[in-house]
Amino acid sequence: MSDLREILLFYRDAGVDAALADKAFDRFAEVRSEKPAERAKTSEGPKLGVRRDDAPQPATPITKPAKMAVPDETQVALARELAAKSRSLEDLRDHLDNFDGCNLKFTAKNLVFSDGNPEGPLMVIGEAPGRDEDVEGLPFVGRSGQLLDRMLAAIGLDREQVYVANVIPWRPPGNRTPTPQETEICRPFIERQIELANPDIIVTLGGPASKVLLKSTLGIMRQRGNWANYISPSGQQIPAMPTLHPAYLLRNPAHKRLAWRDFLEIRAKLDQTGSPS
Ligand code: URA
Repeated sequence: MSDLREILLFYRDAGVDAALADKAFDRFAEVRSEKPAERAKTSEGPKLGVRRDDAPQPATPITKPAKMAVPDETQVALARELAAKSRSLEDLRDHLDNFDGCNLKFTAKNLVFSDGNPEGPLMVIGEAPGRDEDVEGLPFVGRSGQLLDRMLAAIGLDREQVYVANVIPWRPPGNRTPTPQETEICRPFIERQIELANPDIIVTLGGPASKVLLKSTLGIMRQRGNWANYISPSGQQIPAMPTLHPAYLLRNPAHKRLAWRDFLEIRAKLDQTGSPS
């Protein structure tokens, strides 16, 4: 009974919120039957969900719930390897598109990789796509994206000068918070994306993105408005401004004045670096 409870809790945390077939697949049995060496070589992770456009095949019913450990370390290692060997942003996007190690991919409609200009001086990074972004395959195109565009316009910028991405490139089902495992699996890709875009300044939107990228334990209200350093895995440092997420500002418009202060700081820093206004 406790095994069954553990599995149900695991599914809930992994975002499984819809039944796609009458019978369950034991995907872990497929993984267990592979030799470890073969498993490490392949990019196929255990499929924790089924792509919507990929009709399920005849199922192997699970007769007895197995004790399962998600082999996240294998997926993190594979993500690191793919990210490291990506020579360009296009290459990175292709690797990400072919990567099956993050279960979020199987409930999302589209990969949401980036928008804007990767040559621009500013890179803005959010947490994860929402419904509108999932449908269009582009980050920050919904209501919070429209507010983000107005905030950028207020300091003389648009997506011609700004590169926009997310820590997690697939929409978590129901917009739930990505799990720590999902974040660790996606982290090597966003780190490589930053390295390849090589912006002068990074803006992290909201607590989750700011915590992950700036390795801070502070809440966003304490973190925002203070310049920090994004430190890449290779030790490169890029000035970073954590600020409030536009989705939060839509719910708490009185805090827009705080974000405005942060954006003025960003403008001043761009002016120091001789960036366009
Ligand atoms: N919120 C985010 O963090 N990213 C998006 O792309 C959209 C909404």
